[in-house]
Amino acid sequence: MKIYEIYFSPTGGTKKAADILTNEIGSNIITCDITKENKDLNNLMITKDDIAIIAVPSFGGRVPSTAIKRISVINGNGAFAVLLCVYGNRAYEDTLAELYDTAKTNNFNIIAAVSAIAEHSVIRQIAANRPDEIDKKQLSEFAKKILYKFYEGKTNEFFIPGKRPYKKYSNMPIVPKPTKACIKCGLCSKECPVQAIDKNNPQKVNSKICISCMRCIYVCPNNARKISSIMYFAAKTALNKVCSKRKECELFI
Ligand SMILES: Cc1cc2nc3c(=O)[nH]c(=O)nc-3n(C[C@H](O)[C@H](O)[C@H](O)COP(=O)(O)O)c2cc1C
Repeated sequence: MKIYEIYFSPTGGTKKAADILTNEIGSNIITCDITKENKDLNNLMITKDDIAIIAVPSFGGRVPSTAIKRISVINGNGAFAVLLCVYGNRAYEDTLAELYDTAKTNNFNIIAAVSAIAEHSVIRQIAANRPDEIDKKQLSEFAKKILYKFYEGKTNEFFIPGKRPYKKYSNMPIVPKPTKACIKCGLCSKECPVQAIDKNNPQKVNSKICISCMRCIYVCPNNARKISSIMYFAAKTALNKVCSKRKECELFI
């Protein structure tokens, strides 16, 4: 049995939570990072004896559209799948439902779904340092229950939270820009999941393409990309109101 860890993780939080689950499930792991365009997605040799952990962050209560497009070309060939939605302690609304529908259409046999919390990628003080020790313990326990279901061969229908039609996604108009510290090394452009940053001039960002995922800020070695302070404080004020109470990881099985 191979374990495919398929993840879209612009700032690393989704990957952190996925690693905890995946490492507990088994050791024969094949990682498949879909954060950047990955041309080999339709050549993955997933078989019905494998397990895929499909992990995405929640953006506005939905799966980021870039992630959905990439997952849509992966054929599950009847493999078991565990869905993971990672969010910044506000809410994940229809993220799991959307991920479930896409994975099911693509021939995955979904045995469980998990929600987990990671540091908020826009306002990093929210859910700071999560997943933490409590999350790790919870996710490890979930993994054991999932493995148990897998070995029992159970394929029951189970509740997945979320509404259909899904909540409308309203794009956050937050586009990071370089500061004076930028040395034009081009890493942000190379790492951008949607190629929104000009290769030769990182000052030029196509705001129609940018998905506000904050990856350019996360990967910059000089800490030279920022969002405008007005947008930052507006987002911080709004999010602080709805994110202050700690939320816990959940298992649907
Ligand atoms: C554009 C955008 C939208 C987001 N929307 C939500 C949301 O609706 N609810 C929430 O709790 N967190 C939200 N977050 C926070 C992320 O879901 C969270 O930080 C996640 O861990 C990011 O994953 P990553 O670290 O793998 O990039 C949003 C973050 C971004 C950048």
